[in-house]
Amino acid sequence: MLSPYKILKSAQLNHYAIGAFNACNLELIKAIVISAHRLKSSVIIATSEGESEFIGMRKIRKIIDVWQEELNIPIILHLDHGHSLEKIKEAINSGYDSVHFDGSSLCLEDNIKTTKKVVNYVKKKNSGIIVEGELGYLRGSSELHSGVEIKEDDLTDPDEALEFIEKTGVDSLAVAIGNIHGIIKKQSNSSGLKYRNPHLYLSRLKQIKEKVEDKVFLVLHGGSGTPEGDIKKAIDLGIIKVNINTELRIAFSNTLRKILKEKKNEIVPYRIMPAVIDAVEKVVMEKIKLFGSVNSILK
Ligand code: 13P
Repeated sequence: MLSPYKILKSAQLNHYAIGAFNACNLELIKAIVISAHRLKSSVIIATSEGESEFIGMRKIRKIIDVWQEELNIPIILHLDHGHSLEKIKEAINSGYDSVHFDGSSLCLEDNIKTTKKVVNYVKKKNSGIIVEGELGYLRGSSELHSGVEIKEDDLTDPDEALEFIEKTGVDSLAVAIGNIHGIIKKQSNSSGLKYRNPHLYLSRLKQIKEKVEDKVFLVLHGGSGTPEGDIKKAIDLGIIKVNINTELRIAFSNTLRKILKEKKNEIVPYRIMPAVIDAVEKVVMEKIKLFGSVNSILK
């Protein structure tokens, strides 16, 4: 497999983004890897701290190794929103390819200091593991919300972004440009749209990119529910990784609820779960197409 760095660099050079899809069980992993394989796309499987605890870091590493061997596609295993050096170390010692240290709740100075410690730890291992830092305040969590207010103060400052990457040496930077975690639930309208998140501040992304150039991989969290046109423009402006969780959770839970309601007497998991996996695959494939990473394993 290409190194994680080369996989991300190829996205940067060829102007597409790789989907980072969150997973915490076999069904979600299966849906993600099968979709990526079908579309010949590189893919990132991400686990938050909670998801990592649920499935087990060492176990997900082994499961992904087996899928990778069988399908021969590049899969990056990534820790999403690690909040402490201990969690980062646990992920690295479990064989993760990439780690996200989220110091965005700290002041700039402390965020730089702690992120730098993570980078030093990872680089000492000389393992090619990717380190993602975060700057700016991203609201919400990967669930449905009735409303989330975004303030201009939350957004990543372009000068601070440059200072952050130069002082920490991170490979990737997650930016706050009006994106939120989760989806704002709205009533259906005439076009049938039930969910819609606010527009991204694309001009802010442009300013950040002008400052940091290609020195770092720019990452967009909170990809669920974001207007598709905005995602495309964000990729044109330099985003090379888009995180998706809530839309997978919705597809998984809603389909499971529906199947159990329809087939009241069905008790066999391998007859219940295929429809759930199909529903998640549909979302993953739509996103891979939107991000432009179809056939990326050939690039
Ligand atoms: P969504 O749940 O909004 O897709 O965000 C996922 C994410 O950013 C994970 O870090």
